[in-house]
Amino acid sequence: MKKMWDGRFNEASSELLEEFNASIFFDKELFKEDIAGSKAHAKMLGECGILDADDVAKIRAGLDQVLGEIERGEFAFSVSQEDIHMAVEGRLSQIIGKELGGRLHTARSRNDQVALDFRAYCQNRTKELASLVRELISVLASIASEHKDTLMPGFTHLQHAQPISLAFHLLAYAFAFKRDYERLLSSYERNNLSPLGSAALAGTPYPTRRELVASELGFMGITPNAMDSVSDRDFALELLFNISLIFTHASRLCEELILWSSQEFGYISISDAFSTGSSIMPQKKNPDVAELIRGKTGRVYGNLIALLTVMKGLPMAYNKDMQEDKEGVFDSVRTASTSLVILREMLKTTTWRKENMLKACKMGHLSATDLADYLVSAYNEPFRLAHNITGRLVALAESRGKDLSELSLEELKSVDPRFDEGALSALSLEASKEARKSSGGTSNESVEKQLVLINDFLARAREF
Ligand code: ARG
Repeated sequence: MKKMWDGRFNEASSELLEEFNASIFFDKELFKEDIAGSKAHAKMLGECGILDADDVAKIRAGLDQVLGEIERGEFAFSVSQEDIHMAVEGRLSQIIGKELGGRLHTARSRNDQVALDFRAYCQNRTKELASLVRELISVLASIASEHKDTLMPGFTHLQHAQPISLAFHLLAYAFAFKRDYERLLSSYERNNLSPLGSAALAGTPYPTRRELVASELGFMGITPNAMDSVSDRDFALELLFNISLIFTHASRLCEELILWSSQEFGYISISDAFSTGSSIMPQKKNPDVAELIRGKTGRVYGNLIALLTVMKGLPMAYNKDMQEDKEGVFDSVRTASTSLVILREMLKTTTWRKENMLKACKMGHLSATDLADYLVSAYNEPFRLAHNITGRLVALAESRGKDLSELSLEELKSVDPRFDEGALSALSLEASKEARKSSGGTSNESVEKQLVLINDFLARAREF
């Protein structure tokens, strides 16, 4: 098969080279961005007097036809086309003739073309992922708003620590995902510049106006240095990192869902629709969705490290190594889109077992800190001594097989006769949660304010 670049070659390519060199079987994913870029480029060439208006109209109509053929699945991709850029241009030339088709590539190179296509792809996917993250936050916030009074143990070291509300716990994730949304937005804004017109590496002698292409395609402006423009893949790395951090958060949440759905915890039941069975143990209901999201975090991190490693040490400007930039990004984007949707839907149908969370709160003497604080505030006891007295009461409760919060006033007095009714109320789990009114705390008052912050964010965080 004839190559677009074979003028200086005497021998045909080896089939081995064709296969190895081609990116068409994966970069066809960029067809929409490629065709939009070519249409904008042709229009600019017309406006700058480099091409005739008539020719521009024919080129653009031809490109629309190619787009339609690909969208309808009528386009026959083949390895000889090498990549999406040459596949589109090759088909265009068949439609409008070689003479005219051959004019489209004036004042550009595949180096700036691929930089444009891939950047536009990353920008478009960044928008889509941001809206999925936003929807996930909205589901977390709506579950949280129903569970301000649902008590559960808060943990440190995976040991019961202090009573909190389920709302407070879920909001911790909502705020983490909010930062993820903000990171996507900030990457989007930083990278919203068109590299097209940088040509091979040094710019072009034609009287082009790169700004026209940029504004036609919805970019804020143009990249300032041609060599950087064709060598930069930061935008893809940022997307891979942003997705990695989303997965760090999703994986932690999934780990908790897995723990919470176990017999040991029993805090939640994941709906049948999002659980799987075992082929041998008839009683099993497994949290596969959460496990898969936790597991997919590995490949998402891998894609980030792979591209960082491809890019390190490359001399300026374009190098073919950079063709290796795409598959990992496509994979991470697909993985994130499906995972964010399924996580959101699974959360919507999860049953929150308040009774078991409350039961768990009565294990581990969660209000011990509150009793020590009460000794400090009611009897002006130094905290160290208060800590010791409370510790002795914990030992007493353990010896009676009770939780600290279940001790009677008599039992309290047996350790320290100063104890009064106030101590009993300090021991209540509800009071312990409500006492934490500091900004960002777990009391209803503080959680209410956090919900306002999240809801304000959701109202403002429209599509960008
Ligand atoms: N398929 C190539 C890539 O993805 C397009 C750019 C090719 N440029 C070149 N000078 N060979 O990187």
